[in-house]
Amino acid sequence: MNILFVVSECVPFVKSGGLADVAGSLPKELAKQGLDIRVILPKYSTISDEYKKQMKKKADFIVEVGWRKQYCGIEELVHQGITYYFIDNEYYFSREQLYGYFDDGERFAFFNLAVIEALSYLSFQPAIIHCHDWHTGMIPFLLSISKNYVAIRTVFTIHNLQFQGIMPRETLSDLFGLSEHYFHVDQLEYYGDVNLMKGGIVAADHLTTVSPTYKQEIQTYTYGEGLHDLLKSRATDLAGILNGIDDAFYHPGEDPFLYKCYSNPSGKRANKLYIQEHFGLPKKEETPLIAMITRLTEQKGIDLVHRVFRELMAEDIQLIILGSGEKEYENFFREMEGYYPHKCKTYIGFDEGLAHQVYAGADLFLMPSKFEPCGLGQLIAMKYGAVPIVRETGGLTDTVQSYNLLTGVGNGFTFSHYNAHDMLFTIKRALSFYQDKECWQTIVGNAMARDYSWTQSASQYRELYLNLVSRSESHVF
Ligand code: GLC
Repeated sequence: MNILFVVSECVPFVKSGGLADVAGSLPKELAKQGLDIRVILPKYSTISDEYKKQMKKKADFIVEVGWRKQYCGIEELVHQGITYYFIDNEYYFSREQLYGYFDDGERFAFFNLAVIEALSYLSFQPAIIHCHDWHTGMIPFLLSISKNYVAIRTVFTIHNLQFQGIMPRETLSDLFGLSEHYFHVDQLEYYGDVNLMKGGIVAADHLTTVSPTYKQEIQTYTYGEGLHDLLKSRATDLAGILNGIDDAFYHPGEDPFLYKCYSNPSGKRANKLYIQEHFGLPKKEETPLIAMITRLTEQKGIDLVHRVFRELMAEDIQLIILGSGEKEYENFFREMEGYYPHKCKTYIGFDEGLAHQVYAGADLFLMPSKFEPCGLGQLIAMKYGAVPIVRETGGLTDTVQSYNLLTGVGNGFTFSHYNAHDMLFTIKRALSFYQDKECWQTIVGNAMARDYSWTQSASQYRELYLNLVSRSESHVF
């Protein structure tokens, strides 16, 4: 069966967050399970020359974005057995960042229209087009109102409902050439604007999101970002499938980034001393080392850490923070590094190798998210034996079970309310367990033991695709 993934970022070419990791790893597992799966994404100028050089031009044509006529090139690249198509247009995609421009609406409208146009040039006929997040939301919508694509089924995955691509009403005709007929609450209208993600949610044949708990949460007022009623109305077509991680890339037993590879809890010791030295922290084996590897944004619960930072620093701990995001948080952590030079270190930015080394060296991994569709950090942390402390939300709830001293079951520590002192209490609880060496070995062992690969979840996607196609075949006859 032919599947086309449409996505705005994909590892190893471009990445701003977990979406790129999923787009880069799930197709490989689906291909292993027998699907012909290809991925289409914009050709950003930030993609490294190493890949650009390997791309081969397949076609070019003109795309009409409302009244504009824009060039579109299709370039092809086969990487690790997967075929990738890149949508080339320098005006839209030759920019320093992936997102955050005044004309993002127009850029991704072009991307959506270009993908649909490209279907005639790919010599690849997808049975299913699987779209991800708002940047691709109009594809299911536009296909559903056209007579030319009735054989194609669509799947739309919500990775983060917070970003919906909300654009002015004029977008409808100006970018998509659509009539006011579609400016309706049952279609694209959203509180007086046009909502591109809503297009995907309204029109896709099937919807998924990235964990079972987030699937439930987005149907509530608190997490639904204004779309909970719509999502509730589509509940029977909505699946919550947990993300996996690329098992070969995140593999402490064979990770070229690590100071010392390991496959059991005791192997972490050398990596801890290494990372302490690397950051200029006192090399103390017995001091618990907590890590945060995260975007520094409100979603990730950084304000909780901010709120109780001094109380946290009163504990006998070390803290390493790796990430970038809101300037206010970046500055705060930089400043705290100055106040607590022997306890707190910050790396503002992202460095893949360093991240692996921190996962390997850390005893604990803090992820107190306000909401978390799935979360990949906690999965990687557990695989590397860094015990997660998380808030019970979304995929964090589905992957981290609080340690139970009586049963010996559990791979981390959790708290429920979005409250800084609840978080602090849970950190202290984890620290008290840390002192009991035997018990700690069990917890770390439990964390490392689980299967975090894509195998199971990919087979759920596969099943979903097969059902969708067989359902539509029975429609025809
Ligand atoms: C988004 C979500 C994150 C999820 C990722 C991949 O970045 O915030 O929770 O893991 O998408 O689905």
